[in-house]
Amino acid sequence: MDIRNFCIIAHIDHGKSTLADRMIEATGTLQKREMKEQLLDMMDLERERGITIKLTPVRMQWNPSTHSGQGGVQLNLIDTPGHTDFRYEVSRSLAACEGAILLVDASQGIQAQTLAVLTMALEHDLVIIPVLNKIDLPAADTERVSDEVVKLLGCGREEIFRISAKEGRGVSEVLDAVIARIPEPRKVASASASSSSARALIFDAVMDTYRGAVAYVRVVEGEFRKGDRVHLLGTKTPVEVLDLGHFAPKYVSDPVLHEGEIGYIVTGSKDVTSVRTGDTAASSPTMMPLPGYKEVQPMVFAGLYPSAADDYPQLREALEKLALNDAALSFEPERNAALGNGFRCGFLGLLHMDIVQERLEREHNCDLVITAPSVLYEVQLAVKRPAEVVRSSLLKIDEPDTARISNPADFPDPSCIREVREPWVRLEVVCRAQDIGAVMTLVGDRRGIYLSLEYLDADRALLHFEVPLQAIVLDFFDLLKSATSGYGSMSYETIGYRAGELVKLQILLLGESADALSTIVHSSEAHSVGAIICRKLKEVIPKEQFQIPIQAAIGAKIVARETVPAYRKDVTGYLYGGDVTRKRKLLEKQKKGKKRMKKMGRVTLTQEAFLSVLKR
Ligand code: GTP
Repeated sequence: MDIRNFCIIAHIDHGKSTLADRMIEATGTLQKREMKEQLLDMMDLERERGITIKLTPVRMQWNPSTHSGQGGVQLNLIDTPGHTDFRYEVSRSLAACEGAILLVDASQGIQAQTLAVLTMALEHDLVIIPVLNKIDLPAADTERVSDEVVKLLGCGREEIFRISAKEGRGVSEVLDAVIARIPEPRKVASASASSSSARALIFDAVMDTYRGAVAYVRVVEGEFRKGDRVHLLGTKTPVEVLDLGHFAPKYVSDPVLHEGEIGYIVTGSKDVTSVRTGDTAASSPTMMPLPGYKEVQPMVFAGLYPSAADDYPQLREALEKLALNDAALSFEPERNAALGNGFRCGFLGLLHMDIVQERLEREHNCDLVITAPSVLYEVQLAVKRPAEVVRSSLLKIDEPDTARISNPADFPDPSCIREVREPWVRLEVVCRAQDIGAVMTLVGDRRGIYLSLEYLDADRALLHFEVPLQAIVLDFFDLLKSATSGYGSMSYETIGYRAGELVKLQILLLGESADALSTIVHSSEAHSVGAIICRKLKEVIPKEQFQIPIQAAIGAKIVARETVPAYRKDVTGYLYGGDVTRKRKLLEKQKKGKKRMKKMGRVTLTQEAFLSVLKR
């Protein structure tokens, strides 16, 4: 059968979902009345925010001679997300395809993510079809952007398509090119002598309330039929194919999935951990697994706690279900002095964290409290690792004397530490030539190291830096946008761990350490971060009968301080006339009393006070 598998890759908002809509219409996969905008963004959340979070497959037919769907070649399209945080979704889509449409907004030109996704597609040996979108916009500069694309891909100008996905202009020609330029699915040498052997790569999975785990597959070899017994090789789980079929884009049942096709397999498994993205579904348990995906490493960690302690089991269940559909999400139980039982979760970035929080709240009815995000530090210990030091380590520890810590409360005593290492990333920024200075300053302020600069064209530059992940993970993107009047874009990739002067900043209330409030900072920032936290705490800690000192400290050194003043009752109010020493005596007595109270006093932090510091 004639089949083409391809995906659309682009920088965020360059029009992937819109182009997919037009293709679905042009091929007659859905009637106009069944269409809605950005059809493949199926989650409510995706539609509301106008961003793609999940990869979405759809099967279409296209006949180049009649420019209609009838009697055409089978096209399997996967729409991919554009934001850096969801790059893992893109990499999985690429592994299921032979070609990719590289979509570039003709008014914006090549952006940081365009480069990042293109590099990934080339690593997978995909055929690239360059397409300029949004040529209907007055700001579109097709000549300039064509030059950029030619320079980037080394292709001819005539190979670049110019379309308007919004108006549907040029979409048929792109579909023709998909058939003409992208090769048919590669034949894979059979892993077994048997003619009935079949293997498929699981590139995604979802939990269906009624049908159990549904695997999204690309059949690499052989055929799958309803009722077949298949083995999930990685998790060693045998399952029965209860149903299978393709995406249109809703599930459409078929009798068989052929070699090269993209479709779904309903496994019926109720165990959320049995169907894993990247695993191989095979007809026999002895077959070789297909090369899977690199395990994704979470970059940002935060504590997730149910608002009501009783909801803890519900949160666990929700996280397990979500993790099936979101291979990048990791979690493990954690306890916090102020918030109770919860989970330490690992995310790919802040947007991912935001989306997970919202999905948990919407799809699983969880009411959540989320703590300040942090990266994962490697702490090399001077002494052999005491067990309690590595309480919270979502990742495995390869070296016996090194702990991986994301929760500052778990940070060991400085005397036990030989070295602290933090993750670094290679950062690529695309900006206008006039903004280069501002970007350099911004990255420099964040402990970044400038590497090199290239010009994409006369007015636009691509800058390469290395920066600590911690320095860019929180608010860097917003700052970049304001420094470049909205024209800058960025992408980053981890390059490993480097030693740094990282210290645990402790917060002392009434001289006592409040461990749940501590953070890990670079020593150069300790003073300013400490001052901010102390100021915030001063606003939220209620006054007592005695003064409450709030201090930020590194070890024994205090780096910032604020004081919550005490209530003072007017103890001299009832005096009238008389000697001034009587008044003084009363005040002395009051002072002594307060001193005693302070000695015995404790500050109990309310959850609100605690959160005002921990929350973003
Ligand atoms: P992400 O999946 O979030 O990365 O976005 P996307 O690449 O799927 O982009 P999407 O299709 O959501 O389009 C982004 C915006 O661009 C939407 O507001 C579209 O209406 C608009 N858009 C897409 N194509 C065109 C076009 O050809 N012309 C014009 N004028 N606007 C377009």
